[in-house]
Amino acid sequence: MLRLGEIELEYPFFQTPLSGYSDYAMRKLAKEFGCPLTFAGVMLAKSAANEKVLKKNAFRPGDDEHPVGAQILGDEPVVMAEAAKGLANVGFDIIDLNFACPAPKVLRRKRGGALLDEPQRIMEIYRQVRDAVSCPVTVKLRIGVKNLEKSKDDFWKLIEAFNNEQVDMLTIHGRTVDKKFSGDVDREILGQVKKQFPNMVIAGSGDIYSSEDVADLLKDKGLDAVAVARGAIGNPWLFAEIKAYFDSNQAPSKPSLNEVKDVMLRHFGMVCSLYPSVKAVRYFRKFLTGYCKYHPERKKVIVTLMAVKKPQQLRESIDILFADKI
Ligand SMILES: Cc1cc2nc3c(=O)[nH]c(=O)nc-3n(C[C@H](O)[C@H](O)[C@H](O)COP(=O)(O)O)c2cc1C
Repeated sequence: MLRLGEIELEYPFFQTPLSGYSDYAMRKLAKEFGCPLTFAGVMLAKSAANEKVLKKNAFRPGDDEHPVGAQILGDEPVVMAEAAKGLANVGFDIIDLNFACPAPKVLRRKRGGALLDEPQRIMEIYRQVRDAVSCPVTVKLRIGVKNLEKSKDDFWKLIEAFNNEQVDMLTIHGRTVDKKFSGDVDREILGQVKKQFPNMVIAGSGDIYSSEDVADLLKDKGLDAVAVARGAIGNPWLFAEIKAYFDSNQAPSKPSLNEVKDVMLRHFGMVCSLYPSVKAVRYFRKFLTGYCKYHPERKKVIVTLMAVKKPQQLRESIDILFADKI
């Protein structure tokens, strides 16, 4: 079990924000496969603070997907607090603050991961957001901007400050900002955080691809929760594997081609109802590599599906290429 403020989750894992992926369709599938909590991709606070923008579907949760969190990015405490209020009002159950994003355009504006160099500003943002909403407020951060003493000092200052504020949860991506999404994840430092601040709820993020990774973070490093990200792109079965780890410690068998086909077609169906048809096909390409993971003719199938341009053609190709061969 995992408790985040008033919210109780049956299992200690969740799907962390994935910009450009974790829309309603991906989140619904995650839930269906046993993931107890999902997050929408990061939203710019300046946009989410605007009532008109909040009317757009991408900025609202579906009625049938609670609990679901929204994440905001920004550097102005007042704007971040306004955005949080708006998102809580449209129905998001948790507000997460992004101090982790490594995108150059974000760093240039001193937002996301760049703010880790300014612990006081982060804490100012956190306090204003927390005071503006009644739902849990969680925080996503990395282990520093760079592998430098100053970055390490700032990181520990922040952790201590969040401990003093009794933050609902910290999700820590075990890489520095300059590493972006590659290089080793430092899980040792995540374990040290939990050891030093045992009362804080700490979730670990970085390279979660199997239930062994979950066991490493929870059992070995003593963390409270695990944040699933890239491992679940085109692979909602990862959530079923992690859930089974808690239920029975027995990994479920890999999905058959037919099962993959059904899920892909349903996922694509949801994508088609969210986006115009030309965009839907292009958008869905991002999930194909994941879905083809277990296909015996993986490379050939990926190349074929990537070339498809029309929704109906994509449905037909999936239907043929993923038919179980008896
Ligand atoms: C395409 C992509 C989009 C991401 N979008 C977000 C985001 O919106 N907010 C966020 O906090 N992290 C975001 N992340 C970071 C992930 O949530 C996660 O912390 C990171 O990928 C490490 O986990 P993994 O190695 O298991 O993927 C993103 C990562 C990727 C690859």
